[in-house]
Amino acid sequence: MLDKKAIDIVKSTVPVLEKHGEAITTRFYQLMFGNHPELLNIFNHANQKQSRQQKALASAVYAAAMYIDNLEAILPVVKQIGQKHRSLGIKPEHYPIVGKHLLLAIKDVLGDAATDEIMDAWGKAYGEISNAFISLEAEMYNEASSQLGGWDGFRSFIVDRKVKESEVITSFYLKPEDANELASFLPGQYISVKVEMEGEEYTHIRQYSLSDSPGKDYYRISVKREAGTSQPDGIVSNYLHDKVKEGDILKVSAPAGDFVLDTIRNTPVVLLSGGVGLTPMVSMLKTVVDVQPERNVTFIHASQNGKVHALRKDVDAVSALDNVNSVVFYDSPTEEDRVNNRFNVEGYVTRDWLEKNVPVKDADFYFCGPVPFMKAINRSLKELGVREEQIHFEFFGPMDSLEEQEKEELVTV
Ligand SMILES: Cc1cc2nc3c(=O)[nH]c(=O)nc-3n(C[C@H](O)[C@H](O)[C@H](O)COP(=O)(O)OP(=O)(O)OC[C@H]3O[C@@H](n4cnc5c(N)ncnc54)[C@H](O)[C@@H]3O)c2cc1C
Ligand code: HEM
Repeated sequence: MLDKKAIDIVKSTVPVLEKHGEAITTRFYQLMFGNHPELLNIFNHANQKQSRQQKALASAVYAAAMYIDNLEAILPVVKQIGQKHRSLGIKPEHYPIVGKHLLLAIKDVLGDAATDEIMDAWGKAYGEISNAFISLEAEMYNEASSQLGGWDGFRSFIVDRKVKESEVITSFYLKPEDANELASFLPGQYISVKVEMEGEEYTHIRQYSLSDSPGKDYYRISVKREAGTSQPDGIVSNYLHDKVKEGDILKVSAPAGDFVLDTIRNTPVVLLSGGVGLTPMVSMLKTVVDVQPERNVTFIHASQNGKVHALRKDVDAVSALDNVNSVVFYDSPTEEDRVNNRFNVEGYVTRDWLEKNVPVKDADFYFCGPVPFMKAINRSLKELGVREEQIHFEFFGPMDSLEEQEKEELVTV
């Protein structure tokens, strides 16, 4: 435990570090990857090029530092990050590397203002924060490997089937190469896929939500091809679409994540998705149908039009059930969509529509989609008086805030 003086120093210097946030994180990654290029096998290079993710790790260290005398208070956030770390294979020996380079970066940027006393206090604070992560993650590693069909690290899976779901989304049905038991998962969880591409110096790891319900002898992921914008095409999604064939092997880590449907509760549940954000929602929908046939579920999916609308068959197969209500929004329907009545509402999901069409007071809400979609849904729900504990969401990119001012954002969904 830090002494009172060190705690005061750490807390009083957090705002200074936050003020120099970008300079420190930029320097931190420069120094760390310079000395440990092997970490480029773990970190997402595209995220590195976009400041949103650059800030996430260091900002979380500062945020934790504000609770250095009561880390218990931020346990839910530590758990959420720990799930991502476990899925990526972050190990205790990585922590001192991050700590050393973060402190070096702080010293570099702040210069003489970072006195020995300040650096010493920060060194100790980082030690405590990293211990909290390490011990939680140890439990998570243990859980992942000791469960029935579980495993440690990355396991080889055969691509049993590759199915085109829309013009941009393709599903991959993955079965363990060793043909042994396959760990179950909770609806909403994701796996990490590690790919080694010919001619690429580093491996690339990405998360993909499991898009089918648990209890099958395969995992299904449904991947959107990230291409066609002014930005470089996405590395892993295009590789999966273009190069990976049925019969190929993918390396996969055990299911992770705490964005999961609570199947103990029996409240009405509203699942909202935009674009490829429907993958965890389809898993949740199918799970309600399988294990809570009495529970009312509203599945709301927003897409551009029928050309990019994926997993429609999965939803149509259950939408006639008494407890299921499915609503499709298209913002740019094609003529064919109109002729074939492929959608229910033209436009976006609005607050007014939600107010009139879903049991706002009683329901639990789960949503995922592009960040602007998520911000709009979150804002609408808050305005309608939906309580914090009824709202659950997942980012298909680095964790972000849904509360900040609306701004143009790069989205990966
Ligand atoms: C929990 C979780 C679950 C997810 N589930 C799914 C899922 O079910 N299905 C799915 O399709 N995706 C899912 N994702 C997203 C997925 O992990 C990948 O982020 C996505 O496939 C893109 O990866 P990529 O390698 O193709 O793109 P990357 O190479 O990582 O690029 C990401 C984006 O950054 C842009 N970019 C690249 N370089 C630059 C640059 N220099 N400057 C600016 N922009 C740049 C690219 O154009 C692209 O849009 C999930 C993510 C998370 C965190
Ligand atoms: C106390 C120390 C740490 C804190 C507070 C921290 C915090 C975070 C946060 C907030 C995220 C984003 C989570 C998300 O978007 O879902 C993240 C992701 C990540 N962290 Fe950590 N982290 C720490 C240590 C480490 C270490 C030691 C490593 C390995 C060297 C590491 C590697 C990663 C990677 C690879 C990601 C995924 C993002 C990407 O690929 O760019 N972290 N961490």
